[in-house]
Amino acid sequence: MRLAGKTAIITGAAGGIGAATVRRFCEEGCRVTLVDIDADALQSVIADIKSDHATADLMPLALDVGLEPSSKAIVDATLKQFGSIDIVVNNAGIRAYEALHEAKADTWQKILSTNLLSYAYLSREALPALRRAKGNIVNVSSTHAVNPRAGMGQYDVAKAGILSLTRTLAFEEAPHHVRVNAVCPGLTLTPFHVRRFAAQGKSEQDLRTERVDHNIQRRWADPREVAHPILWLASDEASFVTAATLMVDGGTRV
Ligand SMILES: NC(=O)c1ccc[n+]([C@@H]2O[C@H](COP(=O)([O-])OP(=O)(O)OC[C@H]3O[C@@H](n4cnc5c(N)ncnc54)[C@H](O)[C@@H]3O)[C@@H](O)[C@H]2O)c1
Repeated sequence: MRLAGKTAIITGAAGGIGAATVRRFCEEGCRVTLVDIDADALQSVIADIKSDHATADLMPLALDVGLEPSSKAIVDATLKQFGSIDIVVNNAGIRAYEALHEAKADTWQKILSTNLLSYAYLSREALPALRRAKGNIVNVSSTHAVNPRAGMGQYDVAKAGILSLTRTLAFEEAPHHVRVNAVCPGLTLTPFHVRRFAAQGKSEQDLRTERVDHNIQRRWADPREVAHPILWLASDEASFVTAATLMVDGGTRV
């Protein structure tokens, strides 16, 4: 029970890595506010977790984290329900597949709002409570924040911005005893990727054998393999870890 008595906010909680992180946090005794734009998916994640952990203390909030007012609504609702905030996991993310030479302004805006500004807004709003709790923030970036590729420039720029945000916030908040860290997942087999491949007529098994030469373990991660390092960074076991970027990518090679 490494998070017993603690409260976390996790965004993108209905997605693959988000839901795995909520589940892992519950297993360690944490109360969780689950934030996602997809209200139905949130309900099914909660039903799924409750079927194994009937007493899990979970609050769903269906909001668009890319809109600035959502951050205050998330913090207010969490404080009202649970009374404190110890951990924020900024994880919500969207993808776009435009090369930079054809990148559209509205795609840039959507990606930056959802994948970067939402992290800045929610962190800022939660900081007073995090300072009181001597808490911490874990930001979910991507291996492609540091390992280049072609075709997803807007996403990769936002993910690189998350690493900068993480380090600056860690320096600014260290005097207030708030730690701030980032994880950089690599290939992680989430329902998003399964759906994307299904739309191309490919099965999950096909997916498991594709792109494996991107990392030295030659495989996709299970979302739980990303949730474990997020849990560790959020726990007191990582009390001397801040401003860190933890690669969780099977050893990406470019
Ligand atoms: N899966 C991977 O291979 C991989 C690799 C590197 C990084 N990541 C990052 O990990 C995080 C989670 O990825 P995932 O694979 O679980 O993705 P996912 O698509 O399964 O989950 C993302 C969740 O974010 C939610 N979301 C999107 N826009 C939102 C908004 N505006 N407001 C609130 N919620 C919103 C979606 O509804 C979804 O439930 C993302 O930040 C992603 O960029 C994933």
